[in-house]
Amino acid sequence: MDKIILEGGVPLNGTVAVSGSKNAALPLMAASLITPGRHVLHNVPDLRDTRTMLKVLETLGTRWSREGGTVYLDTSELTGAEAPYELVKTMRASVLVLGPLLARVGLARVSLPGGCAIGARPINYHVRGFEQLGVKTVLEKGYVEASAQGRLQGNVVYFDNPTVTGTENLLMASVTASGTTVIKNAAREPEVGNLIDMLVSMGAEIEGRDSDRLTVHGVERLAEAEATIIPDRIEAGTYLIAAAAAGGEVTVQGCIPDHLPSLVEKLRGTGIQIKEHDTSFTVTSPGWTEGSRNLRSVDIRTMPYPGFPTDLQAQFMALMTTAEGVSVIHETIFENRFMHVAELQRMGADIKIDGCTAIVTGKKRGELCGAPVMATDLRASASLVIAGLAAEGITEISRIYHLERGYENMAEKMRKLGARIKVVRE
Ligand code: EPU
Repeated sequence: MDKIILEGGVPLNGTVAVSGSKNAALPLMAASLITPGRHVLHNVPDLRDTRTMLKVLETLGTRWSREGGTVYLDTSELTGAEAPYELVKTMRASVLVLGPLLARVGLARVSLPGGCAIGARPINYHVRGFEQLGVKTVLEKGYVEASAQGRLQGNVVYFDNPTVTGTENLLMASVTASGTTVIKNAAREPEVGNLIDMLVSMGAEIEGRDSDRLTVHGVERLAEAEATIIPDRIEAGTYLIAAAAAGGEVTVQGCIPDHLPSLVEKLRGTGIQIKEHDTSFTVTSPGWTEGSRNLRSVDIRTMPYPGFPTDLQAQFMALMTTAEGVSVIHETIFENRFMHVAELQRMGADIKIDGCTAIVTGKKRGELCGAPVMATDLRASASLVIAGLAAEGITEISRIYHLERGYENMAEKMRKLGARIKVVRE
Protein backbone atom coordinates (compact mmCIF):
# COMPACT_ATOMS: atom_id res chain seq x y z
CA MET A 1 0.00 0.00 0.00
CA ASP A 2 1.33 3.47 -0.88
CA LYS A 3 2.13 5.68 2.06
CA ILE A 4 3.45 9.07 3.06
CA ILE A 5 6.37 9.33 5.43
CA LEU A 6 7.02 12.71 6.98
CA GLU A 7 9.19 14.20 9.65
CA GLY A 8 7.63 16.89 11.83
CA GLY A 9 9.02 19.98 13.47
CA VAL A 10 10.23 21.68 10.29
CA PRO A 11 8.73 25.11 9.46
CA LEU A 12 7.30 25.76 6.00
CA ASN A 13 8.52 28.67 3.91
CA GLY A 14 7.95 29.79 0.34
CA THR A 15 5.14 29.84 -2.19
CA VAL A 16 2.65 27.16 -3.10
CA ALA A 17 0.32 27.29 -6.10
CA VAL A 18 -3.28 26.16 -5.80
CA SER A 19 -4.74 23.75 -8.37
CA GLY A 20 -8.19 23.83 -9.93
CA SER A 21 -11.07 22.91 -7.65
CA LYS A 22 -12.02 19.24 -7.54
CA ASN A 23 -15.57 19.99 -6.50
CA ALA A 24 -16.01 22.49 -9.32
CA ALA A 25 -14.31 20.34 -11.96
CA LEU A 26 -16.64 17.37 -11.35
CA PRO A 27 -19.96 19.13 -12.08
CA LEU A 28 -18.48 21.15 -14.96
CA MET A 29 -17.21 17.95 -16.57
CA ALA A 30 -20.64 16.36 -16.13
CA ALA A 31 -22.33 19.45 -17.60
CA SER A 32 -20.56 18.80 -20.91
CA LEU A 33 -23.05 15.95 -21.42
CA ILE A 34 -25.99 18.35 -21.73
CA THR A 35 -25.08 19.41 -25.26
CA PRO A 36 -23.67 17.09 -27.92
CA GLY A 37 -20.43 18.62 -29.12
CA ARG A 38 -16.91 19.62 -28.21
CA HIS A 39 -16.30 21.30 -24.88
CA VAL A 40 -13.12 22.70 -23.42
CA LEU A 41 -12.36 22.96 -19.73
CA HIS A 42 -9.29 24.74 -18.40
CA ASN A 43 -7.51 24.35 -15.06
CA VAL A 44 -8.85 20.84 -14.48
CA PRO A 45 -6.85 19.22 -11.65
CA ASP A 46 -5.36 15.82 -12.42
CA LEU A 47 -6.74 13.80 -9.52
CA ARG A 48 -8.15 10.35 -8.90
CA ASP A 49 -11.65 11.85 -8.77
CA THR A 50 -11.38 13.80 -12.01
CA ARG A 51 -9.99 10.65 -13.67
CA THR A 52 -12.95 8.70 -12.33
CA MET A 53 -15.32 11.30 -13.77
CA LEU A 54 -13.57 10.93 -17.14
CA LYS A 55 -14.18 7.17 -16.90
CA VAL A 56 -17.86 7.77 -16.15
CA LEU A 57 -18.12 10.07 -19.17
CA GLU A 58 -16.24 7.52 -21.29
CA THR A 59 -18.76 4.80 -20.41
CA LEU A 60 -21.44 7.18 -21.73
CA GLY A 61 -19.61 7.60 -25.06
CA THR A 62 -17.55 10.73 -24.42
CA ARG A 63 -14.12 10.98 -26.03
CA TRP A 64 -11.60 13.11 -24.28
CA SER A 65 -8.01 14.24 -24.25
CA ARG A 66 -5.92 16.30 -21.88
CA GLU A 67 -3.16 18.83 -22.54
CA GLY A 68 -1.78 20.09 -19.26
CA GLY A 69 -4.68 21.50 -17.30
CA THR A 70 -6.98 21.65 -20.33
CA VAL A 71 -9.41 18.82 -20.93
CA TYR A 72 -11.18 18.46 -24.29
CA LEU A 73 -14.46 16.59 -24.10
CA ASP A 74 -16.33 15.41 -27.17
CA THR A 75 -19.83 14.46 -26.11
CA SER A 76 -21.27 14.24 -29.66
CA GLU A 77 -22.17 10.60 -29.17
CA LEU A 78 -24.12 9.27 -26.25
CA THR A 79 -23.79 5.51 -26.17
CA GLY A 80 -25.62 4.87 -22.90
CA ALA A 81 -27.28 6.53 -19.95
CA GLU A 82 -25.91 4.50 -17.09
CA ALA A 83 -23.35 5.24 -14.36
CA PRO A 84 -22.42 1.77 -13.09
CA TYR A 85 -21.91 0.71 -9.47
CA GLU A 86 -18.18 0.00 -10.07
CA LEU A 87 -17.56 3.70 -10.72
CA VAL A 88 -20.15 5.27 -8.41
CA LYS A 89 -18.84 3.27 -5.45
CA THR A 90 -15.39 4.77 -5.95
CA MET A 91 -16.75 8.31 -6.32
CA ARG A 92 -20.23 9.32 -5.25
CA ALA A 93 -20.04 12.56 -7.28
CA SER A 94 -20.66 10.28 -10.30
CA VAL A 95 -24.35 10.95 -9.53
CA LEU A 96 -23.75 14.36 -11.13
CA VAL A 97 -24.44 12.79 -14.54
CA LEU A 98 -28.12 12.34 -13.58
CA GLY A 99 -29.08 15.97 -14.22
CA PRO A 100 -27.29 16.35 -17.58
CA LEU A 101 -28.56 13.00 -18.89
CA LEU A 102 -32.14 13.92 -17.98
CA ALA A 103 -31.69 17.26 -19.74
CA ARG A 104 -30.29 15.60 -22.87
CA VAL A 105 -32.30 12.41 -23.29
CA GLY A 106 -34.80 12.31 -20.43
CA LEU A 107 -33.28 9.08 -19.22
CA ALA A 108 -30.65 8.07 -16.67
CA ARG A 109 -29.75 4.98 -14.69
CA VAL A 110 -27.32 5.65 -11.91
CA SER A 111 -26.20 3.39 -9.11
CA LEU A 112 -27.15 4.65 -5.64
CA PRO A 113 -23.87 5.58 -3.99
CA GLY A 114 -24.50 3.99 -0.59
CA GLY A 115 -22.95 5.29 2.62
CA CYS A 116 -19.40 6.55 2.90
CA ALA A 117 -16.78 7.14 5.59
CA ILE A 118 -18.22 10.53 6.59
CA GLY A 119 -21.93 9.76 6.72
CA ALA A 120 -24.95 8.16 5.05
CA ARG A 121 -25.10 10.88 2.36
CA PRO A 122 -28.35 9.91 0.64
CA ILE A 123 -29.41 11.52 -2.65
CA ASN A 124 -33.11 11.79 -1.76
CA TYR A 125 -33.14 15.58 -2.31
CA HIS A 126 -31.81 15.13 -5.85
CA VAL A 127 -34.40 12.46 -6.62
CA ARG A 128 -37.29 14.43 -5.13
CA GLY A 129 -36.16 17.52 -7.07
CA PHE A 130 -36.13 15.61 -10.38
CA GLU A 131 -39.60 14.25 -9.61
CA GLN A 132 -40.85 17.80 -9.17
CA LEU A 133 -39.62 18.48 -12.70
CA GLY A 134 -41.83 15.65 -13.98
CA VAL A 135 -39.28 12.83 -13.88
CA LYS A 136 -40.42 9.35 -12.88
CA THR A 137 -37.95 7.53 -10.69
CA VAL A 138 -37.76 3.89 -9.68
CA LEU A 139 -35.26 2.27 -7.40
CA GLU A 140 -34.28 -1.12 -8.79
CA LYS A 141 -31.42 -3.40 -7.86
CA GLY A 142 -29.49 -0.57 -6.24
CA TYR A 143 -29.96 1.77 -9.18
CA VAL A 144 -32.08 4.91 -9.55
CA GLU A 145 -33.82 4.75 -12.88
CA ALA A 146 -35.07 8.16 -13.93
CA SER A 147 -37.11 8.89 -17.03
CA ALA A 148 -39.23 11.66 -18.47
CA GLN A 149 -41.53 12.01 -21.45
CA GLY A 150 -40.24 14.88 -23.57
CA ARG A 151 -38.76 17.96 -21.92
CA LEU A 152 -38.70 18.27 -18.13
CA GLN A 153 -41.24 20.72 -16.72
CA GLY A 154 -40.09 23.73 -14.72
CA ASN A 155 -41.34 23.86 -11.12
CA VAL A 156 -40.46 25.09 -7.65
CA VAL A 157 -37.95 22.86 -5.87
CA TYR A 158 -37.19 23.33 -2.19
CA PHE A 159 -34.29 21.62 -0.42
CA ASP A 160 -34.59 20.83 3.29
CA ASN A 161 -30.84 21.45 3.51
CA PRO A 162 -28.76 23.31 0.98
CA THR A 163 -27.18 20.44 -0.92
CA VAL A 164 -24.20 21.25 -3.14
CA THR A 165 -24.36 18.43 -5.69
CA GLY A 166 -28.17 18.41 -5.41
CA THR A 167 -28.29 22.08 -6.45
CA GLU A 168 -25.84 21.35 -9.29
CA ASN A 169 -27.85 18.35 -10.49
CA LEU A 170 -31.11 20.31 -10.47
CA LEU A 171 -29.51 23.24 -12.26
CA MET A 172 -28.22 20.95 -15.00
CA ALA A 173 -31.57 19.19 -15.33
CA SER A 174 -33.60 22.40 -15.48
CA VAL A 175 -31.62 24.50 -17.96
CA THR A 176 -33.41 22.89 -20.90
CA ALA A 177 -36.75 22.24 -19.16
CA SER A 178 -39.84 23.97 -20.42
CA GLY A 179 -40.87 26.93 -18.30
CA THR A 180 -39.23 28.27 -15.19
CA THR A 181 -37.64 26.37 -12.31
CA VAL A 182 -37.02 28.00 -8.95
CA ILE A 183 -34.58 26.29 -6.60
CA LYS A 184 -35.17 27.45 -3.04
CA ASN A 185 -32.65 26.97 -0.24
CA ALA A 186 -30.03 26.32 -2.92
CA ALA A 187 -26.37 25.85 -2.00
CA ARG A 188 -24.28 29.01 -2.43
CA GLU A 189 -20.85 27.39 -2.61
CA PRO A 190 -18.48 29.02 -5.14
CA GLU A 191 -18.43 25.72 -7.06
CA VAL A 192 -22.15 26.20 -7.79
CA GLY A 193 -21.32 29.70 -9.07
CA ASN A 194 -18.63 28.22 -11.35
CA LEU A 195 -21.20 25.82 -12.82
CA ILE A 196 -23.73 28.62 -13.28
CA ASP A 197 -21.12 30.67 -15.18
CA MET A 198 -20.42 27.73 -17.49
CA LEU A 199 -24.13 27.06 -18.10
CA VAL A 200 -24.82 30.76 -18.76
CA SER A 201 -21.90 30.87 -21.22
CA MET A 202 -23.63 27.96 -23.00
CA GLY A 203 -26.83 29.98 -23.28
CA ALA A 204 -28.69 29.05 -20.10
CA GLU A 205 -30.82 31.69 -18.40
CA ILE A 206 -30.15 31.61 -14.68
CA GLU A 207 -30.81 34.33 -12.11
CA GLY A 208 -29.74 34.54 -8.49
CA ARG A 209 -26.09 33.42 -8.66
CA ASP A 210 -24.55 33.37 -5.16
CA SER A 211 -27.98 33.43 -3.54
CA ASP A 212 -30.09 30.65 -2.03
CA ARG A 213 -32.82 31.19 -4.62
CA LEU A 214 -31.95 30.29 -8.18
CA THR A 215 -34.34 30.92 -11.04
CA VAL A 216 -33.80 29.01 -14.25
CA HIS A 217 -35.73 29.97 -17.40
CA GLY A 218 -35.52 26.86 -19.55
CA VAL A 219 -34.16 27.21 -23.09
CA GLU A 220 -34.45 24.65 -25.91
CA ARG A 221 -30.78 23.90 -26.25
CA LEU A 222 -27.38 24.97 -25.00
CA ALA A 223 -24.23 25.61 -27.02
CA GLU A 224 -20.80 24.03 -26.59
CA ALA A 225 -18.76 25.30 -23.66
CA GLU A 226 -15.35 26.69 -22.90
CA ALA A 227 -14.95 27.25 -19.18
CA THR A 228 -12.27 27.57 -16.52
CA ILE A 229 -12.34 25.76 -13.21
CA ILE A 230 -11.97 28.06 -10.19
CA PRO A 231 -9.04 27.58 -7.80
CA ASP A 232 -9.60 24.99 -5.09
CA ARG A 233 -10.52 26.88 -1.92
CA ILE A 234 -10.24 23.73 0.19
CA GLU A 235 -6.74 23.03 -1.07
CA ALA A 236 -5.80 26.69 -0.42
CA GLY A 237 -7.28 26.45 3.08
CA THR A 238 -5.39 23.23 3.73
CA TYR A 239 -2.04 24.93 2.93
CA LEU A 240 -2.94 27.92 5.09
CA ILE A 241 -3.66 25.61 8.02
CA ALA A 242 -0.55 23.54 7.31
CA ALA A 243 1.64 26.67 7.42
CA ALA A 244 -0.11 27.76 10.61
CA ALA A 245 0.60 24.37 12.20
CA ALA A 246 4.20 23.98 11.05
CA GLY A 247 5.17 27.62 11.54
CA GLY A 248 6.98 29.76 8.97
CA GLU A 249 5.84 32.08 6.21
CA VAL A 250 3.95 30.73 3.23
CA THR A 251 2.28 32.44 0.30
CA VAL A 252 -0.65 30.51 -1.11
CA GLN A 253 -0.86 31.65 -4.69
CA GLY A 254 -3.50 31.54 -7.40
CA CYS A 255 -6.53 31.43 -5.12
CA ILE A 256 -9.60 33.58 -4.53
CA PRO A 257 -9.27 34.96 -0.97
CA ASP A 258 -12.97 35.90 -0.95
CA HIS A 259 -13.83 32.18 -1.02
CA LEU A 260 -12.38 31.54 2.45
CA PRO A 261 -13.98 34.19 4.68
CA SER A 262 -14.67 32.00 7.70
CA LEU A 263 -11.30 30.22 7.73
CA VAL A 264 -9.38 33.50 7.53
CA GLU A 265 -11.42 34.91 10.41
CA LYS A 266 -10.77 31.82 12.54
CA LEU A 267 -7.05 31.69 11.75
CA ARG A 268 -6.75 35.37 12.69
CA GLY A 269 -8.57 34.51 15.93
CA THR A 270 -5.72 32.15 16.81
CA GLY A 271 -3.27 35.04 16.53
CA ILE A 272 -1.81 34.02 13.20
CA GLN A 273 -1.05 36.79 10.73
CA ILE A 274 -2.69 36.52 7.32
CA LYS A 275 -2.33 39.05 4.54
CA GLU A 276 -4.88 38.92 1.75
CA HIS A 277 -3.82 39.98 -1.73
CA ASP A 278 -5.86 39.90 -4.97
CA THR A 279 -5.10 36.28 -5.78
CA SER A 280 -3.03 35.06 -2.85
CA PHE A 281 -2.63 34.89 0.90
CA THR A 282 0.53 35.16 2.96
CA VAL A 283 0.39 33.45 6.31
CA THR A 284 2.98 33.98 9.01
CA SER A 285 2.92 31.64 11.97
CA PRO A 286 5.23 31.62 14.98
CA GLY A 287 5.61 27.86 15.21
CA TRP A 288 6.76 26.54 18.56
CA THR A 289 8.55 28.77 21.06
CA GLU A 290 10.18 26.93 23.91
CA GLY A 291 7.82 24.01 23.62
CA SER A 292 4.60 26.00 23.50
CA ARG A 293 2.82 28.22 21.07
CA ASN A 294 1.61 31.73 20.69
CA LEU A 295 -1.49 30.23 19.17
CA ARG A 296 -4.89 30.57 20.81
CA SER A 297 -7.66 28.01 20.56
CA VAL A 298 -10.83 29.04 18.74
CA ASP A 299 -14.15 27.27 18.30
CA ILE A 300 -15.63 26.33 14.96
CA ARG A 301 -19.01 25.18 13.68
CA THR A 302 -19.21 23.80 10.16
CA MET A 303 -21.92 25.39 8.04
CA PRO A 304 -22.92 25.68 4.40
CA TYR A 305 -21.05 28.43 2.53
CA PRO A 306 -20.12 31.09 3.56
CA GLY A 307 -19.86 29.34 6.94
CA PHE A 308 -16.86 27.28 7.99
CA PRO A 309 -16.48 24.45 5.42
CA THR A 310 -16.90 20.89 6.65
CA ASP A 311 -14.10 20.06 4.18
CA LEU A 312 -11.64 21.99 6.40
CA GLN A 313 -12.87 20.75 9.78
CA ALA A 314 -10.43 17.85 10.11
CA GLN A 315 -7.46 20.01 9.09
CA PHE A 316 -8.46 22.76 11.54
CA MET A 317 -8.85 20.21 14.31
CA ALA A 318 -5.26 19.07 13.70
CA LEU A 319 -4.15 22.69 14.16
CA MET A 320 -6.16 23.03 17.35
CA THR A 321 -4.37 20.03 18.90
CA THR A 322 -1.31 22.32 19.03
CA ALA A 323 -2.98 25.54 20.28
CA GLU A 324 -3.20 26.87 23.83
CA GLY A 325 -6.49 26.14 25.58
CA VAL A 326 -9.64 24.30 24.57
CA SER A 327 -11.36 24.38 21.21
CA VAL A 328 -14.94 23.22 20.65
CA ILE A 329 -15.60 21.90 17.16
CA HIS A 330 -19.17 21.26 15.98
CA GLU A 331 -19.69 19.28 12.81
CA THR A 332 -23.18 20.07 11.56
CA ILE A 333 -23.06 18.83 7.95
CA PHE A 334 -22.07 15.16 8.17
CA GLU A 335 -22.90 12.83 11.05
CA ASN A 336 -19.70 10.81 11.00
CA ARG A 337 -16.93 13.21 10.10
CA PHE A 338 -14.67 12.57 13.08
CA MET A 339 -12.87 9.48 11.80
CA HIS A 340 -9.56 11.36 12.02
CA VAL A 341 -9.94 11.80 15.78
CA ALA A 342 -8.80 8.30 16.69
CA GLU A 343 -5.73 8.73 14.47
CA LEU A 344 -4.90 12.16 15.95
CA GLN A 345 -5.23 10.60 19.42
CA ARG A 346 -2.61 8.04 18.41
CA MET A 347 -0.26 10.99 17.91
CA GLY A 348 -0.94 12.24 21.43
CA ALA A 349 -3.84 14.63 20.80
CA ASP A 350 -6.34 15.25 23.59
CA ILE A 351 -9.77 15.12 21.93
CA LYS A 352 -13.10 14.09 23.41
CA ILE A 353 -16.13 13.45 21.27
CA ASP A 354 -19.71 14.01 22.32
CA GLY A 355 -22.06 13.36 19.41
CA CYS A 356 -21.27 15.89 16.71
CA THR A 357 -18.99 17.91 18.99
CA ALA A 358 -15.27 17.43 19.52
CA ILE A 359 -13.50 19.07 22.43
CA VAL A 360 -9.83 19.57 21.70
CA THR A 361 -7.34 20.51 24.40
CA GLY A 362 -4.10 21.78 22.89
CA LYS A 363 -0.85 20.05 23.71
CA LYS A 364 2.68 21.29 24.05
CA ARG A 365 5.55 20.37 21.77
CA GLY A 366 6.93 16.99 22.66
CA GLU A 367 3.49 15.80 23.75
CA LEU A 368 2.51 15.36 20.11
CA CYS A 369 4.60 12.79 18.37
CA GLY A 370 4.67 11.11 15.00
CA ALA A 371 3.07 7.68 14.68
CA PRO A 372 1.90 5.24 12.03
CA VAL A 373 -1.65 6.35 11.17
CA MET A 374 -4.30 5.45 8.65
CA ALA A 375 -6.15 7.83 6.34
CA THR A 376 -9.91 7.20 6.38
CA ASP A 377 -11.14 9.79 3.91
CA LEU A 378 -9.83 12.63 1.82
CA ARG A 379 -9.89 15.50 4.30
CA ALA A 380 -8.98 13.24 7.24
CA SER A 381 -5.81 12.37 5.31
CA ALA A 382 -4.92 16.05 4.97
CA SER A 383 -5.44 16.52 8.71
CA LEU A 384 -2.94 13.72 9.41
CA VAL A 385 -0.36 15.40 7.19
CA ILE A 386 -0.89 18.65 9.12
CA ALA A 387 -0.66 16.87 12.48
CA GLY A 388 2.52 15.16 11.29
CA LEU A 389 4.08 18.51 10.34
CA ALA A 390 3.46 19.87 13.84
CA ALA A 391 4.42 16.71 15.77
CA GLU A 392 7.90 15.56 16.71
CA GLY A 393 9.38 12.63 14.87
CA ILE A 394 8.19 10.48 12.01
CA THR A 395 4.58 10.03 10.90
CA GLU A 396 3.68 7.29 8.45
CA ILE A 397 0.31 7.71 6.77
CA SER A 398 -1.11 4.71 4.95
CA ARG A 399 -4.07 4.52 2.52
CA ILE A 400 -3.01 7.74 0.83
CA TYR A 401 -5.20 6.96 -2.16
CA HIS A 402 -7.78 8.98 -0.24
CA LEU A 403 -5.48 12.01 -0.33
CA GLU A 404 -4.83 11.52 -4.04
CA ARG A 405 -8.55 11.76 -4.76
CA GLY A 406 -8.47 15.48 -4.04
CA TYR A 407 -4.99 16.94 -3.68
CA GLU A 408 -2.75 17.37 -6.72
CA ASN A 409 0.88 16.51 -5.82
CA MET A 410 0.52 17.41 -2.18
CA ALA A 411 3.80 15.82 -1.10
CA GLU A 412 5.72 17.60 -3.87
CA LYS A 413 4.10 20.94 -3.08
CA MET A 414 4.88 20.53 0.64
CA ARG A 415 8.46 19.47 -0.13
CA LYS A 416 9.00 22.71 -2.06
CA LEU A 417 7.99 24.54 1.11
CA GLY A 418 10.67 22.70 3.04
CA ALA A 419 8.64 19.83 4.51
CA ARG A 420 10.47 16.54 4.93
CA ILE A 421 7.85 14.43 3.26
CA LYS A 422 7.94 11.62 0.73
CA VAL A 423 5.54 9.23 -0.92
CA VAL A 424 6.57 5.58 -0.79
CA ARG A 425 4.94 3.44 -3.49
CA GLU A 426 4.63 -0.24 -2.75
N1 EPU B 1 -28.23 15.44 2.07
C1 EPU B 1 -29.34 14.65 2.20
N2 EPU B 1 -29.97 14.25 1.06
C2 EPU B 1 -29.51 14.61 -0.18
C3 EPU B 1 -28.37 15.41 -0.29
C4 EPU B 1 -27.74 15.82 0.85
O1 EPU B 1 -29.77 14.32 3.30
O2 EPU B 1 -30.13 14.20 -1.17
C5 EPU B 1 -27.54 15.90 3.29
C6 EPU B 1 -26.15 15.29 3.42
O3 EPU B 1 -26.17 14.02 3.99
C7 EPU B 1 -25.46 16.34 4.27
C8 EPU B 1 -26.05 17.65 3.76
O4 EPU B 1 -27.31 17.29 3.17
O5 EPU B 1 -25.82 16.15 5.60
C9 EPU B 1 -25.22 18.42 2.76
O6 EPU B 1 -24.64 17.54 1.81
P1 EPU B 1 -24.36 17.96 0.32
O7 EPU B 1 -25.38 17.36 -0.56
O8 EPU B 1 -24.18 19.43 0.24
O9 EPU B 1 -22.98 17.25 0.04
P2 EPU B 1 -22.50 16.73 -1.37
O10 EPU B 1 -23.06 17.57 -2.43
O11 EPU B 1 -22.68 15.26 -1.46
C10 EPU B 1 -20.38 18.24 -1.57
C11 EPU B 1 -18.91 18.04 -1.73
C12 EPU B 1 -18.34 17.48 -0.43
C13 EPU B 1 -18.63 18.49 0.69
C14 EPU B 1 -20.14 18.76 0.77
C15 EPU B 1 -20.51 19.81 1.78
C16 EPU B 1 -18.70 17.61 -4.09
C17 EPU B 1 -18.39 16.64 -5.16
N3 EPU B 1 -18.67 17.13 -2.83
O12 EPU B 1 -20.93 16.97 -1.28
O13 EPU B 1 -16.94 17.39 -0.61
O14 EPU B 1 -18.19 17.98 1.91
O15 EPU B 1 -20.63 19.17 -0.51
O16 EPU B 1 -19.89 21.00 1.50
O17 EPU B 1 -18.96 18.76 -4.34
C18 EPU B 1 -14.77 16.58 -0.20
O18 EPU B 1 -14.38 17.25 -1.16
O19 EPU B 1 -13.98 16.04 0.63
C19 EPU B 1 -16.21 16.41 0.02
C20 EPU B 1 -16.71 15.44 0.76
